[in-house]
Amino acid sequence: MTVDGTAPEFNAAFRTQFEQLLRWRRDVRTFRSDPLPEGSIEQLVEIASLAPSVGYSQPWRFVTVSDPERRKVIRTAFEDANRDALEGYDGERKQLYARLKLAGLDQAPEQLAVFTDHGTPRGLGLGRQTMPEMLDYSTVNAIHTFWLAARAEGIGAGWLSILDPARVTEALNVPENWSLTAYLCVGYPAEESERPKLEQVGWEEKAAESKTILRR
Ligand SMILES: Cc1cc2nc3c(=O)[nH]c(=O)nc-3n(C[C@H](O)[C@H](O)[C@H](O)COP(=O)(O)O)c2cc1C
Repeated sequence: MTVDGTAPEFNAAFRTQFEQLLRWRRDVRTFRSDPLPEGSIEQLVEIASLAPSVGYSQPWRFVTVSDPERRKVIRTAFEDANRDALEGYDGERKQLYARLKLAGLDQAPEQLAVFTDHGTPRGLGLGRQTMPEMLDYSTVNAIHTFWLAARAEGIGAGWLSILDPARVTEALNVPENWSLTAYLCVGYPAEESERPKLEQVGWEEKAAESKTILRR
């Protein structure tokens, strides 16, 4: 029984394509510099807002960052954090880290900060009294939905967390109670692969335990 209209049926061909979408979604760090078509970001945010959220709180807040001065602050915040991170590694690992390209800040035509609004009254606290972190997890759902919807359009997104969130929050002058969940670079990818970049370059391998199911 459907409540509103007729629910679509997803067939085997769709399921195959959906799996392909999941397999070919990548964290993108090398971008073509050509702009996205007008309205792309709005359309992707519209789809992202279909994500599930605790108590139906819908706490994600998207901020596009195009102002050159603000971008500069974020570029510097990345450089500082990346330098500190490099110091945390030794030997070959340090050399490998130094070679990794961890941000598409210089080429991606779009940059998006995604915040979680911890002040939202929506959802009336449902599910958050026991596990307040669920609000942030809800935003992560929206980000993943955005990521997949983008890939379906041939658009890549790269998640950048080598940043001091306080500096990003200050640079973007957002309302109080918004806390940074993700900083995304978005644009057309310069390369495509079915394998994560960090797997390709030998930073980390596919984890067998990520597919393990404990039975209790
Ligand atoms: C919460 C989160 C934070 C991430 N932060 C970074 C980051 O700061 N820099 C980076 O290069 N990749 C970052 N990534 C991307 C991961 O490195 C990437 O998802 C992982 O290597 C697997 O590759 P894939 O997304 O292409 O499958 C982040 C991903 C997630 C989910």
